[in-house]
Amino acid sequence: MMLDPRLSVIEDRLKGVDRIIAVSSGKGGVGKSLIAATTALLLSERGLRAGLLDLDFTNPSSNVILGVSAAHPIEDKGMIPPEIHGVKYMSITFFSGEEVMPLRGGDATNAFIEVLALTRWGNLDYLIVDTPPGLGDILLDLLKLIRRLMFLVVTTPSRLSLETVRKLLALLRGVRAPVIGVIENMLTDISISVKGEVERIGARFLGSLPFDPRVDGVLGNPKKLLETKFAEKLSEILDQALKIT
Ligand SMILES: Nc1ncnc2c1ncn2[C@@H]1O[C@H](COP(=O)(O)OP(=O)(O)OP(=O)(O)O)[C@@H](O)[C@H]1O
Ligand SMILES: [Mg+2]
Repeated sequence: MMLDPRLSVIEDRLKGVDRIIAVSSGKGGVGKSLIAATTALLLSERGLRAGLLDLDFTNPSSNVILGVSAAHPIEDKGMIPPEIHGVKYMSITFFSGEEVMPLRGGDATNAFIEVLALTRWGNLDYLIVDTPPGLGDILLDLLKLIRRLMFLVVTTPSRLSLETVRKLLALLRGVRAPVIGVIENMLTDISISVKGEVERIGARFLGSLPFDPRVDGVLGNPKKLLETKFAEKLSEILDQALKIT
């Protein structure tokens, strides 16, 4: 695989991008996509140049969160991602439409390499990468193909979610990938925060995001999404985590 000529192109395509952050978790459904998309929107709202890359090929959801309908990349010596509310956005859904696109391991890797090799991000302050759940192929590919990758890890206030985060952090440590920290998502009044346990694992605890019942009604409407308590709190966490006030 290392002989693939597209690999040298990938580095070149990403050379104008300052920081690349993957939003990851061991478990599914913990809010990675929502956090990744909202992070990109918040950065853009502050006048930073932000991109969002959705690498969840089987269940992409950032298109729904951003309310992407008619936009498409423009072909010009590669693909220029469309801007959605100021965020340069690229996703497999541009090619699969509404169809499901089940891909086997090798094919997913290929699609992934293809998207990275073709997308012309230009100059960005941040590229946020929405990843599929789990510790599988895409994560390993990411680590191999994108150097300078930093990880924002998401958990829910559940011991089950935390257990997979523990494994993810061990894996990332093993390959010396930088971890910005862990965000706890969907905290409710009756939840028990996993802050202490995250710190015991030796990771930086970045803060908790509330379970916000208003979020679902504003999916697809970035402006309204940015007005939620969820986005407000995420904005505070990012201030600290990325030092961007
Ligand atoms: N803080 C929150 N308050 C309310 N709803 C939330 C919150 N975080 C996430 N959700 C909702 O929970 C569901 C799962 O979120 P999301 O799709 O972002 O998770 P995910 O980790 O990307 O899932 P997958 O692993 O399948 O990719 C969505 O319906 C989303 O709107
Ligand atoms: Mg997701």
